Amino acid sequence: MSDPVLSLSAIAKTYNAGLPGEVRVLQGIDLYISPGEVVALVAPSGAGKSTLLHIAGLLDTPDAGNVRIAGQDMTGKSDRARTAVRRRDVGFVYQFHHLLPEFTAAENVVLPQLANGVSAVAANDRALDLLDRVGVAARAGHRPAALSGGEQQRVAFCRALANSPRLLLADEPTGNLDPATSDQVFNALMDLARDTGLSALIATHNHALAERMDRVLRLDGGRLAE
Ligand SMILES: Nc1ncnc2c1ncn2[C@@H]1O[C@H](COP(=O)(O)OP(=O)(O)OP(=O)(O)O)[C@@H](O)[C@H]1O
Ligand SMILES: [Mg+2]
Repeated sequence: MSDPVLSLSAIAKTYNAGLPGEVRVLQGIDLYISPGEVVALVAPSGAGKSTLLHIAGLLDTPDAGNVRIAGQDMTGKSDRARTAVRRRDVGFVYQFHHLLPEFTAAENVVLPQLANGVSAVAANDRALDLLDRVGVAARAGHRPAALSGGEQQRVAFCRALANSPRLLLADEPTGNLDPATSDQVFNALMDLARDTGLSALIATHNHALAERMDRVLRLDGGRLAE
């Protein structure tokens, strides 16, 4: 077995600890994702999916427990070290696309590559290739506001994959799309994942989509069950 791409052990997170409004969201989460595995995370609203994904993606820190990405233990690492690993190894897709409104679709996919030291020409080639693979190449020169919800979400996937991360984390990426569009976006993502050996953890409310992934994890009462 190769090293897990993502490994979480004994992760705990409480909001407003010690205050009357204390929320114990995660209470000992263990989770491993192997190279090439696509895993669904299903849970009711408020169960802690976003919290878990933000911790896994180094956007937030747990109160206890360890996060390892591609074998590197991130516990106690500086912000700078966390940012470097996040940029190189992790792609994140938010529930709402979070594309930069003043830039075109292609530019949104180019920018993270420039931040990672890729040349403008290479970054542009890669952006157009990714957009083509998810069927939105014809929209490359349009700004997000001129795109449909499904197109925006496909561009957001391309942005997350721009730097060829090992791990993709997606927070209900098709939650605000109609079923047909959601299927189309999901198919594009699965094709890309299978082609590139990407590992992914994808939060979804959609049980039909969850069933098509390699494994389904359920988060409830602060714990995970297979
Ligand atoms: N910054 C915060 N401060 C206090 N409580 C928070 C904070 N962020 C989240 N929570 C609480 O933690 C719990 C889990 O929130 P989280 O956003 O992780 O859930 P979720 O499963 O993603 O829900 P949804 O499906 O609605 O997106 C909720 O009860 C929420 O109110
Ligand atoms: Mg959420």
